[in-house]
Amino acid sequence: MSIVIKGATVVSTYGQRQMDVRIVDEKIAAVGVDIATPADTIVDARGCYLLPGFIDAHTHMELNNGPGTASTADNFTTGTIAAVAKGTTAVIDMATPDRGHSLQECLATWNNLAAGKSSSDYSYHMSLIEWNSQLAAEIPKMAAQGITSFKMYMAYDNLRTTDAEIYAAMCEIKKVHGMLGIHCENGDLVNALQAQYLANGLTAPKYHALTRPNQLEAEAINRYLTIAALADLPVNIVHLSTRESLAVVRAARARGQKVYVETCPQYLLLDDHYYELPNFEGAKYVCSPPLRSQQDEQALWQALEQGEINTISTDHCDFNFHEQKFIGKDDFTKIPGGMPGVETRPELIYTAGVTTGKISVEQFVGLLSENIARQFGMYPQKGIIQVGSDADLVIWDPQQTGVISAQTQLQNVDYSAFEGFKTKGAARAVYLRGQQVAAQGQLLVGQQGKFIARHGSDYHLK
Ligand code: URP
Ligand code: ZN
Ligand code: ZN
Ligand code: ZN
Repeated sequence: MSIVIKGATVVSTYGQRQMDVRIVDEKIAAVGVDIATPADTIVDARGCYLLPGFIDAHTHMELNNGPGTASTADNFTTGTIAAVAKGTTAVIDMATPDRGHSLQECLATWNNLAAGKSSSDYSYHMSLIEWNSQLAAEIPKMAAQGITSFKMYMAYDNLRTTDAEIYAAMCEIKKVHGMLGIHCENGDLVNALQAQYLANGLTAPKYHALTRPNQLEAEAINRYLTIAALADLPVNIVHLSTRESLAVVRAARARGQKVYVETCPQYLLLDDHYYELPNFEGAKYVCSPPLRSQQDEQALWQALEQGEINTISTDHCDFNFHEQKFIGKDDFTKIPGGMPGVETRPELIYTAGVTTGKISVEQFVGLLSENIARQFGMYPQKGIIQVGSDADLVIWDPQQTGVISAQTQLQNVDYSAFEGFKTKGAARAVYLRGQQVAAQGQLLVGQQGKFIARHGSDYHLK
């Protein structure tokens, strides 16, 4: 099978140029000006960008918080349909073992959730919710199976570990050139503030934000980076959301530390006024870290413009508003945290970032694809349009307009956090390893996703 995509402007972080791309089977076979057809299929993509498939490095496709709590509205089947239809051809999901269980078991559980069901390619960050010698011995075994990134938590009582455990885990992760991401919030202080608010009868969704103030994120990031400096490990900060945190990152970088920063569309496009919505609608926006002030949003955009933020992923973790979010009707601490987002990231960031001139289309490609592939050991298999790479491609129509709405979304959840947002720019066609899997935002063929065995992070090399 060969396909030639003609006349699009091919983009990478290095620049853009009008070129043709030949796909043979699953790979890119040629990239050049006026490359020879014949091919089985010729696609005229003039007027469009040709972009490497987007990668979402932060999803919770299928999260079950246990008995009496909520499970995510999406699962691997539905969530990855929404992803791939709009241009996200790979996801790295958060795999979380149960306490006392091995990473190997967790890997098997997640493979069970994804294999044969995922419509995007997929991998996992392996969560370390506790630490002991057995888990330490499993780190190289995970790396040998292509799992080279790990996740830890400084908040959530069921997930967080001590600073000493984080340090010990970092020392093992370093040996495999792995990448660690941490959820940074001071969990003790979150607990203390929550108890204080509830004791005063303050139970509404808006208190979710007030009990997780900016400083609790910045303090945790500072502690994380202190530990990472001791371990001499390059590290990722997931879902960074505040201007105080950016200051902490700048200081660490000024000392020569390798720090990589992820933010998410919700911290760039939504602010804490949403928690004031009537009829419990603020619960739709309960996620951790919470939505921040407009000042924080502006600081994040400035950091993006200046290249201080490396990646944008979604933290897709969706619960239905009716029923699931309502579990916390009388107690904001019981509202299941997280929101939908895997479907809308490309259109939102292109619209708010590229069409406004805040970021270039080259930066857009870096933030949603190339930087992620490099950081998480998938480059150059993913994240770039060059000979030999997987033919994960998005024909991006910069003129296509739309309106985000729960009515039309593919995510299997009963609301959109971005309801009514007008978009400009959308995926016209999406190819996953050479096969066209989506057209005009709709799925053509599903469940073609494969596990991506990843190598160590490129950021250990430099
Ligand atoms: O509230 C959120 N973000 N839920 C998902 C888990 C996490 O903290 O990333
Ligand atoms: Zn088990
Ligand atoms: Zn988190
Ligand atoms: Zn998350």
